[in-house]
Amino acid sequence: MDNIEKISAEIEAFKVNAAADLENFRLKFLSKKSELQSLLGEIKNVPVEQRKLFGQQVNELKQKAQAIFEEQKQRLEDAAPVQGNLSDVTRPATAVSLGSRHPISIMMDEVCGIFEKIGFSTVAGPDIEDDWHIFTALNFPEEHPARDMQDTFFIDQKPDVALRTHTSTLQVRTMETHQPPIRVICPGRVFRNEAITSRAHCIFHQMEGLYIDENVSFADMKQTLMYFAKQMFGENTRIRLRPSYFPFTEPSAEMDVSCNICGGEGCALCKHTGWVEILGCGMVDPNVLENCGIDSKKYSGFAFGLGIERMTMLKYKTNDIRLYFENDVRFLEQFTAAKL
Ligand code: DAH
Repeated sequence: MDNIEKISAEIEAFKVNAAADLENFRLKFLSKKSELQSLLGEIKNVPVEQRKLFGQQVNELKQKAQAIFEEQKQRLEDAAPVQGNLSDVTRPATAVSLGSRHPISIMMDEVCGIFEKIGFSTVAGPDIEDDWHIFTALNFPEEHPARDMQDTFFIDQKPDVALRTHTSTLQVRTMETHQPPIRVICPGRVFRNEAITSRAHCIFHQMEGLYIDENVSFADMKQTLMYFAKQMFGENTRIRLRPSYFPFTEPSAEMDVSCNICGGEGCALCKHTGWVEILGCGMVDPNVLENCGIDSKKYSGFAFGLGIERMTMLKYKTNDIRLYFENDVRFLEQFTAAKL
C-alpha cells in the first residue's frame, strides 16, 4: 500500500518536456517491466482480505498513468511543427510563377514588328563568323585602322574566326544568297572586347537593316528611319542625322532621336544634349554590293544597324545596361507587367 502511494506521487511529479521524457515515463510506469507491473506481481504476497482493494488501487494507478501518458503525448504533438504528410491537404496550392519575357526579347520583337509592317522580313545568322563576313566583304581593308573600331574576340587557334562584332555580317550573307529587291532586318547578339560599364557591355544586341533595289535613295532611308522612330517612341519624336564614317556605307550617318526621358530638356541619358544616338546608317558602298555578287551599276540601297540595349534603355527609362544581363527577377518581372 505504501508503494502505491509512493508511485502515485512519482507519476504526478514526473515532468515531460520532450519525447525522450515521454518514453522514460512509459518504461517506468506502463511497460511490462515497469514499477507498476512489478507491484501487480506482489499481489500474491498481499493478505487475502486486502487483495481486492490492492488490485483495484493498482489498476486505478495504471489508468491514471495511462491517462497522463496520453495527455502528455497529445501536448507534445500539438506543440511540434507540422511536417511532411501532416500538412493540410485541403489548403489551396501555391501559385507557380510563370516567369516573364526578357525586355531585350520584347524590344527585338517590337522592332521586327514595326519593320515587318512595311515589308521587311526577319533573318538570322551565326554568332561565330569568319573574317570575310565580319570585315573583308564589308570593305574593311586588311590592316585598315577601321578594324580597330571593333575590339574583336578572336578564336585562339583560328585567326580567321571570331565572335561577330556587328550584325552587318548578315547584310553579306543575305546579298550572297539573294538578288534584289532585298528588304531584311537581322536581329542578333554581338560581342566586343570592351570594359563593362553602365553604358557599355561586351555582349549586346543589334538589329541590322538592309534595303536594296533599283533607284533607292538617301531620302528613302531617311523616311524609313523616321517612320521607325515615330512608331517606336511616339508621333512627336524627332530625328537627326549626323555625318559619320563606316567602311561599308558611303555616305554614312549616325541617327539620334529626341530624348524620350527628358523630352529634349537635357538629362543624364542624353548627356544634357536632348538627343540620344540609336543607330548608324548609310548608302551601301558599291564595293560591298560587288563583293556580294550584286550589280552596283543597276542597284543601290541603304543599310542601318541599331543598338537594342540603347533603345530599350530609352524606351523603358532604365539607366544601367548591366541590368539586362544580371537576370534579377525583380527587374525582369516589371516588363511583363508593362506588356500584358
Ligand atoms: N555595324 C555598325 C556598328 O556595329 C552599325 C552600322 C552602321 C550598321 C552603319 C550599318 C550601317 O548597316 O549602315 O557600329
